Amino acid sequence: MKFNAPRGTNDILPPEIEKWQYIEEITHKLFKNYNYQEIRTPIFEYTELFQRGIGEVTDIVEKEMYTFEDKSGRSITLRPEGTASVIRSFLENKIYGQAQPTKYYYIGPMFRYERPQSGRFRQFHQLGVEAIASNDPALDAEIISLGIRLLEKFGLEDFELHLNSVGCKSCRPKYMEKLKTFLTKNKAELCDKCKERIERNPLRVLDCKNQSCQAVIKDAPKITEHLCEECELHFSEVQSFLDVLNIEYIINPLLVRGLDYYTHTAFEIKDNALGAQNTVFGGGRYNGLAEEIGNRDIPGIGFALGIERLLLSLQAKEINIVEAEGIDLYITVIGEKAKKEAFRLLDILRKEEFKTEIDYLDRSVGSQMKSADRMNAEYTIIIGENELNNNSATIRNMKSGNEAEIKLSNLLKEMKQRVDKGEK
Ligand code: HAM
Repeated sequence: MKFNAPRGTNDILPPEIEKWQYIEEITHKLFKNYNYQEIRTPIFEYTELFQRGIGEVTDIVEKEMYTFEDKSGRSITLRPEGTASVIRSFLENKIYGQAQPTKYYYIGPMFRYERPQSGRFRQFHQLGVEAIASNDPALDAEIISLGIRLLEKFGLEDFELHLNSVGCKSCRPKYMEKLKTFLTKNKAELCDKCKERIERNPLRVLDCKNQSCQAVIKDAPKITEHLCEECELHFSEVQSFLDVLNIEYIINPLLVRGLDYYTHTAFEIKDNALGAQNTVFGGGRYNGLAEEIGNRDIPGIGFALGIERLLLSLQAKEINIVEAEGIDLYITVIGEKAKKEAFRLLDILRKEEFKTEIDYLDRSVGSQMKSADRMNAEYTIIIGENELNNNSATIRNMKSGNEAEIKLSNLLKEMKQRVDKGEK
């Protein structure tokens, strides 16, 4: 019998995991610096939340959800994204009764039954932010800049910010009618999927990669030319706040997102080194979402970044975000008695935060030294019966090869002198 991880999922193993830990560490720091607080919502929710929140006529809800009945017959879905859950939690816990706006962030796994390929998985990880209960266009710019500043922290600067306004419930229906009329006129030119989309979700046609569809789309009516006054003002204010921050953007009226809750601002950061799945993060405003799932008129804006895509982007640019870290000391032991003493010293050193290791495979001195080498130990010390009797041993600096006789009872003091704790 042989088991494999399910298709589209990944084990994250050492040393790769160190990159994840580093990304998470930087994210916590930066997001807190922008005054966002962490929120953790359940990995699964009642299915209706996503049906209503994300929209019935989206690929996610129609085809990609991991949905099952629990033992009591309730329909449960593994979360395909974080925004609907965060707004559900905001409403359920009556956070709207507190001082606003509310600024949350989250890091965790999401699940979508998609065809796996480079940058696309069935279990993937997002880090995301949601700023709730303010309609200020400056907050749209804050959210976008936060994502960009995060990428910059990892040395990523070579990407494109695509920006659009997808209108609101007053101007979008009129635009959709115009678009439908246009697409119907050009139906013969469209691919089979898009022919279907005309009635069900015409905006998605704008996103089709098929060449003959693209030829039609370039002459399609543009949402940015059909915005109501309020949307237009909001959109231009967002741009002027981005200008203040010197953030460059490409206005892309063809940018449509895969979730139906968006209103006003929509954006994506694309890294052209990534191939087909080139969106590192995406998001936008969702002023109608709280209404949809909780009958409350509360605006919001956010984004989510795919951690796997961030890692691919770093890989494509050969940026190494973590250096392999070695251990401070490897204690090589000879004999049972020495092992007990080494075990005691190990505990003392670890309490003082020295990264220390001994042998657990009863190996020869030579093999233990090889292990020390593999672990990139800065120092090694050999303890046998003689050393115990004399309360002295030789400590070796593995890089320089320098050796010194020290008193075993002084090992901690010696290590403190040798290893620069300030840099740990
Ligand atoms: P999304 O565009 O569906 O938006 O996903 C955001 C990011 O998650 C994508 O840009 C991509 O990096 C990553 N991602 C999505 N699907 C996959 C996949 N199958 N494999 C690997 N990575 C993937 C949302 O989820 C919204 N909740 C974002 C948001 C937050 N909007 C407002 N607030």
